[in-house]
Amino acid sequence: MGFDFEISQMRQSDLDGVMKIEKASFPTPWSRNAFLSEIYENSRACYLVAKHNGEVIGYVGIWIILDEGHVTNLAVHPDYRRRGVGEGLMKAIIDYARSKGAKRITLEVRVSNLGAQKLYEKLGFVSAGIRPGYYHDNGEDAIIMWRNEQPQRERPVRDHHGRR
Ligand SMILES: CC(C)(COP(=O)(O)OP(=O)(O)OC[C@H]1O[C@@H](n2cnc3c(N)ncnc32)[C@H](O)[C@@H]1OP(=O)(O)O)[C@@H](O)C(=O)NCCC(=O)NCCS
Repeated sequence: MGFDFEISQMRQSDLDGVMKIEKASFPTPWSRNAFLSEIYENSRACYLVAKHNGEVIGYVGIWIILDEGHVTNLAVHPDYRRRGVGEGLMKAIIDYARSKGAKRITLEVRVSNLGAQKLYEKLGFVSAGIRPGYYHDNGEDAIIMWRNEQPQRERPVRDHHGRR
C-alpha cells in the first residue's frame, strides 16, 4: 500500500500548516498574506493541500492565464518527502489545469534543485531554457520547464496574427 493522503482546496484554516512547510522549504518564504490573497483574491489561482490524518503535509499552486498554466509553488513537509506526495499534488494540479483548458503548463526551478527537476521530468516536463539570476536571494539561475497537455499533431496552426 502507498502512503495515504488526501488532496483538497487550500483554505484559510490550512495556513498555519502551510506556513510551517513554506518556512522549512524556501530561503525566501511567502508571507501568510501572500497565500491569503492568492486563495481569496486571485481568481486565476488555484491552491491545493495534501493532508495526512488531518494535518497539512504539502501544497501546490497554479495560475491559469488564457490557455497556459504556471505552477507558482510546490512544497512537501520535510518529514513526509519521498512518499509520493509531491507527485500526487502535481498530478492533481495538472488535472485541474487541463479541466480549465490549459494546453501547456510551465514552471521555474532552481538549477541546484535536482530533486524537484527529477520529479518534473518524471511527469513529462522538459527543460526549455534558463532565466539567468531569476532568484533574488542568491542570484541563482532558473530552469524553465514546460509540459504540453495535447499531442503535437493537435496543436493549432499559426493564425494570421502570427500568434500560436
Ligand atoms: C520537491 C519536493 C516538492 C518533492 O516532493 P516529494 O513528496 O518528496 O516528492 P515525491 O515523493 O512525490 O517524488 C516523486 C519522484 O520525484 C523524484 N524525486 C523527488 N524528490 C527527489 C529527490 N530529493 N532526489 C531525487 N529524486 C527526487 C523521484 O523520481 C521520486 O520518485 P521516487 O521517490 O519513487 O524515486 C520536495 O522535495 C520539497 O518540498 N522540496 C522543497 C521545496 C521545493 O524544492 N519545491 C519545488 C520548487 S520548484
